[in-house]
Amino acid sequence: MFRKCYGCHSIEPGGAAQNGPNLHGIVGRRIASEPEFDYSPAMEAFARREEVWTAELLARFVADPEALVPGTDMFVPPVTDPEERAALIDFLKADRGN
Ligand code: HEC
Repeated sequence: MFRKCYGCHSIEPGGAAQNGPNLHGIVGRRIASEPEFDYSPAMEAFARREEVWTAELLARFVADPEALVPGTDMFVPPVTDPEERAALIDFLKADRGN
């Protein structure tokens, strides 16, 4: 599942920002908190409203990035299948704390 994200995001600890920020430990991580990444104003504004990425917020984000964060720079096909989303979030979670 993470193949859909790999083109723009690294996941390993300390991985470099690519088109998108590194996603290491993203579940429970502060929104828009990668210092080396230049987030969109939309994502910065979202971070002031929501604070951290919960599994639930992440599921909503991948289901429809533009609906959750209007104006985000992340343009991707929505992950519409709930099972795919769950698998993806599990993958992101497993990475936590390494
Ligand atoms: C075409 C490139 C691209 C793809 C593919 C992509 N992203 Fe992104 N992603 C971005 C960009 C660019 C941002 C920064 C968005 C902004 O600042 O508005 C981002 C931001 C994020 C954030 C917020 C990170 C933070 O530090 O707050 C998460 C979470 C995320 N992406 C998850 C995913 C997941 C999960 C996938 C796979 C389903 C994915 N992305 C696929 C480009 C991409």
